[in-house]
Amino acid sequence: MDATPYASDMQQIFPGEVFANTADFDTGIRQLLPRYDEMLEVISRCVPSSCDRILELGCGTGELSLKILQRCPDAQVIALDYSPRMLQFAESKIAAAGYQNRWSGIEADFGDWANNPEKFAIGREFAACVSSLAIHHLQDEMKFHLFQQIAVSLSSHGCFWNADPTLPESPVLVEVYQAAREEWATQQRINLGEVRDKKGTSVTQGYSSQDQLATLNTQLQMLTKAGFETVAVPWKYYGLAVFGGWLRGF
Ligand SMILES: C[S@@+](CC[C@H](N)C(=O)[O-])C[C@H]1O[C@@H](n2cnc3c(N)ncnc32)[C@H](O)[C@@H]1O
Repeated sequence: MDATPYASDMQQIFPGEVFANTADFDTGIRQLLPRYDEMLEVISRCVPSSCDRILELGCGTGELSLKILQRCPDAQVIALDYSPRMLQFAESKIAAAGYQNRWSGIEADFGDWANNPEKFAIGREFAACVSSLAIHHLQDEMKFHLFQQIAVSLSSHGCFWNADPTLPESPVLVEVYQAAREEWATQQRINLGEVRDKKGTSVTQGYSSQDQLATLNTQLQMLTKAGFETVAVPWKYYGLAVFGGWLRGF
């Protein structure tokens, strides 16, 4: 999503922060991506409402955290993000909603967590792990390694759900997906040029760099190889997908 700079004076940002000003994120992401809320809603519905401990990777301004906290009344959410300014926004939003006792934001690179889990005092036995629009910034080898680390950090019936852009399987589909997005924006009377002008330009940070898309099929195979017994795609809209699965059964 940070792929193309549209203005020469763009401010440098971390991959995944998207906008030069964090205050533009919540409105801007809904203008850039069709069905953003629906996509996050699907993740929150796939997480059992009885979950106690939930790990979120790349929480950004806390939009998914909020949906999860609303649907899982007993859940403690441990949310990792390497961007202090995104975490700060998330923290204020979570506090304003009254969920501060059930949410902990941790400034950390999830690639670092995958490589050195012992450095982070967050433990294991999570009932669920969730992520949206973040993991696609890792190279494929690291995606697989992260999926492996998620698998060993879940309780035996734990689940993992990720929403991300995926690599189109053919050049024809690149055009189909792009056209669908542009038409959707026109129908919504969104001026994509104006929204893109608000984007920052990202430079590699830690384990993340500009979009490193993998096909959906490749990622489903990675999940199986990482130990997920059941893998599924509960939602897909052109090049965006929610995918993941359960370690055992279900
Ligand atoms: C596009 S935002 C999405 C935020 C939120 N999940 C949502 O759907 O609104 C991606 C977030 O992932 C974070 N991120 C990207 N790579 C990361 C990494 N390696 N470690 C931790 N956070 C990362 C960015 O800082 C950013 O807050």
